[in-house]
Amino acid sequence: MSKFNIATVQSVHHWTDTLFSFTCSRDPGLRFNNGEFTMVGLDVEGRPLARAYSIVSPNYEEHLEFFSIKVQDGPLTSRLQHLKVGDEVLIGKKPTGTLLVDNLLPGKTLWLLSTGTGLAPFMSIIRDPDIYERFERVILTHTCRHKGELAYMDYIKHDLPGHEYLGDVIKDKLTYYPTVTREEFENEGRITDLIASGKLFSDLDTAPFSPEHDRVMLCGSTAMLRDTVALLKPAGLVEGKNSTPGHYVIERAFVD
Ligand code: A2P
Repeated sequence: MSKFNIATVQSVHHWTDTLFSFTCSRDPGLRFNNGEFTMVGLDVEGRPLARAYSIVSPNYEEHLEFFSIKVQDGPLTSRLQHLKVGDEVLIGKKPTGTLLVDNLLPGKTLWLLSTGTGLAPFMSIIRDPDIYERFERVILTHTCRHKGELAYMDYIKHDLPGHEYLGDVIKDKLTYYPTVTREEFENEGRITDLIASGKLFSDLDTAPFSPEHDRVMLCGSTAMLRDTVALLKPAGLVEGKNSTPGHYVIERAFVD
């Protein structure tokens, strides 16, 4: 039996020359937890060509959404970037991953730290009602080189507070902190530098990371994960894994 369902593309949105998102139909049998990834691909000459993609859409939506880079000579994304409404894509039947709220111990503040397309799983998580039951405050950071790459910024700032069911709790509990590293913006700098200098905490009016109160999820490049973990460990935070909850979790599925 195939590992993939065939889904139909419903919409495509190009953010920049290097970033795009698309939505597609969802097999009624596909179940997942918010924050998980699945394989996404295309049939290329009769064979599936697929890569791991975090699911952007929350698990109660009827469709699926994904956020991707476009690499001109990348085997998959050179093709995927040309998707059009009505095209077929392959969607893995077994979503999985470690960015799960169950892998974290109870705490007060949930930090979701992302760079680039690492934002994807957190788009699903910030629309999960369960996290607002478990945490007093949820802080989402997204760092990109340029402000045009801050995908979903308008949606998070302007649409989510009006969300039919979650709008009020999101207005109350979610803080979005976008930062840019290579041009002028309201917040500038790598998340690691903002943590190390303490600027992140003073801007957000919080205390520095502590194992008592803070829980952290990380999704970004290998270097970003490594350098951020190097700041979390000295603060006394311990990594959580499936079946052993901790103070922070990392998604390693996308490391290059
Ligand atoms: P910078 O512009 O200083 O390299 P990329 O597109 O290379 O994946 O980077 C996405 C964002 O992540 C950029 O803003 C980049 O900053 C930042 N970044 C790259 N490496 C690290 C790292 N080791 N720690 C924290 N942020 C990083």
